[in-house]
Amino acid sequence: MSEPSRHSAEPPPPDPAEAASVDPDEVARFAALAERWWDSHGAFRPLHALNPVRIGYLRDRLCAALGRDPKAPHPLTGLRLLDVGCGGGLIAEPMARLGAAVVGIDAAAENIAVAKLHAAQSELAIDYRHDAPEALAAGGERFDAVLALEVVEHVADLRGFLGACAALLEPGGAICLATLNRTAAAYLLGVVAAERLLRWLPAGTHQWDKFVRPAELVRLLRDEGVTMQDLSGVFYDPLRDRWVLGRNLQVNYLAFGVKRGKCGRKGGREAQAS
Ligand SMILES: C[S@@+](CC[C@H](N)C(=O)[O-])C[C@H]1O[C@@H](n2cnc3c(N)ncnc32)[C@H](O)[C@@H]1O
Repeated sequence: MSEPSRHSAEPPPPDPAEAASVDPDEVARFAALAERWWDSHGAFRPLHALNPVRIGYLRDRLCAALGRDPKAPHPLTGLRLLDVGCGGGLIAEPMARLGAAVVGIDAAAENIAVAKLHAAQSELAIDYRHDAPEALAAGGERFDAVLALEVVEHVADLRGFLGACAALLEPGGAICLATLNRTAAAYLLGVVAAERLLRWLPAGTHQWDKFVRPAELVRLLRDEGVTMQDLSGVFYDPLRDRWVLGRNLQVNYLAFGVKRGKCGRKGGREAQAS
């Protein structure tokens, strides 16, 4: 009897769709909209509108935490950055333009196909993969920064998702999350107004009970060795017709933390959340 080849004895790579953090209904909803990622007037219009404030926040916070000059033309050069739930690449591309070596993962293969095509058209070298954070963490890869913007309110297992994101960080590495708070105000503005009245988002995009309170993020990340350094609200200013940062965390907010451990970077004082 012939020996089985080494190749056939290797287990197949894990299917991202089977990762515990993946909610198949949520991912299917995004996959169905994959062709629209780069239409700034389409289904992802709010993410396009949020991008200037998100990118400015990321640049400034990453530079402060990782010892970079935010005024440099490519301040993130030399950093390995993972964008979890990258969608079509709305955040991965600007991070690559700031100089980071970007890996983007998403549980929807359709999103990864669109992201790859757009990066090629934009002449950006981004390593996009159809993957979930648990599988990547199990493979042992580590990053200087992990981003998951507008993702945690769509996952099935928040603790497992955050644990995998934290495991993917080098000690001293930075993590940034963006989500919606589980408040009455977020229900009115993030669901009723955004989906039903203004129709900024397709109906059914958000389930209020999956919104995450800042204190929950602080506690869950602390359990994974991450110190929250900043919590900032993000809200729409109709007078300036743009999204801006503020202190009010009642609706949309950004959270930024640093993984404790050696490597000389400071964990800093923990941000307070209620
Ligand atoms: C609202 S979109 C955010 C896209 C992007 N981060 C941005 O802010 O422009 C959420 C994305 O997360 C992906 N996603 C949801 N759960 C995931 C998981 N467990 N692992 C990886 N991707 C996930 C979805 O497929 C979708 O593309």
